Amino acid sequence: MPRVSQLYFKAATLFLIIGIGMGLQMSISGSHDVIGAHAHANLLGWVTSALFGTYFALNREKAVHRLALVQFGIYTLGVAIMVPSLYLLLRGNAGALPFVAASSFITFAGVLLFAFVVFTPVRSEQMPGAPMELSR
Ligand code: HEM
Repeated sequence: MPRVSQLYFKAATLFLIIGIGMGLQMSISGSHDVIGAHAHANLLGWVTSALFGTYFALNREKAVHRLALVQFGIYTLGVAIMVPSLYLLLRGNAGALPFVAASSFITFAGVLLFAFVVFTPVRSEQMPGAPMELSR
């Protein structure tokens, strides 16, 4: 599996653990106040990261490109800031709002970069030997 896909699945798994942790916290406490952080950890963190990782695993010629790692870094940074800051905001910490706002734009930048990767055709000179290099 390409390195970027491995990184995506590691990040996705961590977000799933955190997301489920918040779900269990809500279930046990009976207070569903952090539902937004829970949903975003699971859907942006787990589901979308796993889909990005799967895309790169299926498109190895794009996964070799440095842009794939840059896209991973930006997207994951955005979600990694968004989830805890949204959690704090929903728990009543208004000071977390700027972090929620900033991380939303960082996450969106990661999504736009993913769109660029998807819609940009692969150049033929990137093809030879690419899959083997990535599996290390
Ligand atoms: C053991 C795992 C999980 C537990 C204990 C759990 C628990 C909860 C709880 C207590 C709520 C609040 C329900 C409400 O107030 O109406 C909720 C909402 C939600 N959960 Fe989970 N959850 C789990 C896993 C997941 C996963 C894996 C996903 C997505 C991939 C997810 C997505 C959502 C979404 C989108 C909502 C909001 C639903 C709505 O607003 O109608 N959850 N969850």
